[in-house]
Amino acid sequence: MQMLSETIQPEDNSYRPPHIAYETPEGFDLMDMTMFRDHGQPYDYFHTLREKAPVSWWQPPATTDVAGYWALTRYEDVKKCDLDAKTFSSGAGGILMGYSAKGGGPKRLSGASLNSMINLDQPWHIPLRMAHRPFFTPDYIGKLQSRVETEVDRLLDNMEAIAKKNDGKVDMVTNFSEWLPMYTLCEMLGIDEKDRPSIVRWMHYLENAAYIVGDPEAKVSPWFIAKFLWNIRQMFRYGQKVLLDRRKNPRDDLLTVIATTELDGEPMDQSYLDGSWLLIIFAGNDTTRNSLSGTMRLLSQFKDQKQMLIDEPSLIPQMVPEALRLVSPVMYMRRTAQADAELSGQKITKGEKVVMYYGAANRDPDVFAEPDKMDIHRANANEHLAFGTGAHVCLGQRIANMQLETAYRRILDRFPNVEWTGKQSHAPNNFVNAISHLEVDLGIN
Ligand code: HEM
Repeated sequence: MQMLSETIQPEDNSYRPPHIAYETPEGFDLMDMTMFRDHGQPYDYFHTLREKAPVSWWQPPATTDVAGYWALTRYEDVKKCDLDAKTFSSGAGGILMGYSAKGGGPKRLSGASLNSMINLDQPWHIPLRMAHRPFFTPDYIGKLQSRVETEVDRLLDNMEAIAKKNDGKVDMVTNFSEWLPMYTLCEMLGIDEKDRPSIVRWMHYLENAAYIVGDPEAKVSPWFIAKFLWNIRQMFRYGQKVLLDRRKNPRDDLLTVIATTELDGEPMDQSYLDGSWLLIIFAGNDTTRNSLSGTMRLLSQFKDQKQMLIDEPSLIPQMVPEALRLVSPVMYMRRTAQADAELSGQKITKGEKVVMYYGAANRDPDVFAEPDKMDIHRANANEHLAFGTGAHVCLGQRIANMQLETAYRRILDRFPNVEWTGKQSHAPNNFVNAISHLEVDLGIN
């Protein structure tokens, strides 16, 4: 199997589609990461797009060499695209925008962001995905849950101690949301405890990577760039060390599975190991972290729903899909058309890029009545697309759901008066809904 970093073609920024059915309305720039930092996900603008231009053309500035793309905002179109991996390929151009951005960036990072199973089509994708299965079964997750419960309580004790010294207030992200997914993932991977804080630090830098690497206009100090490059180097060195160690000394952990997976009887080479390492630590951490924080924001905005959960904690499992629908922690996945197609009356030509906006699909009123409202009794909340769908549907969805359920059961039990204070910040990122701070008042005063 050839690595995608070796076969990927440069993107053609000068390409324009032969036919544009809908004019793209003004109001938000989906390519401007600073707009996501300043405003979060543009739900109102997604609404305008769904109504006026459900398939809209986006042209990155000529200062980048990133290809233009079709933005999909209707639920049916996103689902159709995600389910049809033959027409809409992950492997032909990768699932992220901006691989070949002129901003440059570390070669190992751009290679790794291409060389993993999320960027592979069949026949390579399925066997690699299947190899991970033992660590994603209900049985395995059931065994993990009691350790996650203990960790939730430890983190909440710590949060309470900090809040007591600060008028009841504490940052939920840096004291809870970023630690719980990291703990769970490290338990699965088999990462030594002393090394875990480094993973949280690398995550901060990774969240800023697309902005630093992909935006030639990015306003970042040379000192921050130096720290960024150093941390990215450390992250790959560490991943290489532990994965090679597992080849020599296999254990019963997910790192061993990643390190020893073979394709056609051949072990995977270092560039695939780099990619798998990057995929698992990013996919397993950042997404759950943002759903934990985003759910707190929702429960403060929809107090009646929160009260129902306090009165009847058995409703928490059905709150989780509704919260994921509204938060949509992963904002998009990109595909490349392998044949001509048509979506909502817009012709898509072979070779064109298509971007599925999950946050827009998840608030499509044709599928979810009163889509901006949190309703824990919503009958079809489970149809949300926050985990994607089809061949690449999130491998970690059960792990994510288990962590969300466990966390909110304990949070609402211990701190029923907890509330978001309204203070928050986002990292400049248009790929994940990257909530970097979220202040809560634990209501203990
Ligand atoms: C709320 C938390 C999470 C969300 C919203 C989320 C979302 C997603 C999405 C949208 C995809 C792509 C689906 C598609 O292309 O159709 C994906 C893939 C993936 N996710 Fe998650 N994810 C979450 C948590 C996790 C966790 C906890 C793990 C691992 C422990 C994980 C591991 C993966 C992997 C390995 C893939 C690639 C699967 C493949 O290519 O076959 N995710 N996730």
